[in-house]
Amino acid sequence: MPLRQERLEKIIESVGELPALPNIVADVLSITEDPTIAVSQISDRVQRDPGLAAKILKISNSPFYGMKQYVGTLKLAIVILGVRELRNIVLGISLFETLQDGRMQHVLVREIWEHSLRVGAWCRRLGAALSLGLQGEDFICGLLHDMGKIVLLRQVGDDYLKLIKRSGGHGQTLCQIETNVLGFDHADAAEALATHWNLPQALSDALWMHHEGPNRTFGAANDPRLAALVWVADAAAREDFSNADQPPGPSCTREEAWLAFGTPKAPSDAAQRRVMLAAFATEIQEMQMLLL
Ligand SMILES: [Fe+2]
Ligand SMILES: [Fe+2]
Repeated sequence: MPLRQERLEKIIESVGELPALPNIVADVLSITEDPTIAVSQISDRVQRDPGLAAKILKISNSPFYGMKQYVGTLKLAIVILGVRELRNIVLGISLFETLQDGRMQHVLVREIWEHSLRVGAWCRRLGAALSLGLQGEDFICGLLHDMGKIVLLRQVGDDYLKLIKRSGGHGQTLCQIETNVLGFDHADAAEALATHWNLPQALSDALWMHHEGPNRTFGAANDPRLAALVWVADAAAREDFSNADQPPGPSCTREEAWLAFGTPKAPSDAAQRRVMLAAFATEIQEMQMLLL
């Protein structure tokens, strides 16, 4: 058995039973595979989940898409967004909701959701500025990057809360403590779940590489640009850009990530990278508030 698969199976085994892929996601994934599918057939299926349909309209009307006029129907939203974009939005929202299910009314889940939306907004904005040509994978990856934390909270419960408290919440310290105690971190758990759900390799690689660890190099990712984007977005979401005198954060301007974008639009030095990110900070704040 290949090493990577063996490692993932061990993680899945220690995490315990993982939730199944929701029907709506499986349906949307399968019907949107068909290039001849009519928009009305897709909207009929999504419409059967009114909560999801409402969220798609909310996202369609958010500054993410810069619509000139109000998008009032799901059909119009699909025409404007495109099928691939819609597919990714459905995937992101439904998977997050599946993970947080009824029992997860914890304040931590709310915090993860807010942070995840923020990272999704950062991915979207930066991906557009660098013309990476990602159609919705950027937003969904940002939205799902920390889903390993929710998996661990579901399966490990209060003990995982203690780990989070010890580490101060997130970042490399949390990963270190998770690895010491569990043998893997929340980025490994996210990758295991993405593999269990058969999500695209580019997505599971990006989730896995959002923190540092052995073999996690952007060059080895299925889509290095996507993996680098989630890294920078996660780091930017934790930066305070309001203080212009503050030196650039080493994480959000990380050389390896910005080189992985592979575009001359990506500034070549840390100070310029920070200026680029700082210019988006207010916009991201507004986008996140509208989505909450
Ligand atoms: Fe994380
Ligand atoms: Fe994060």
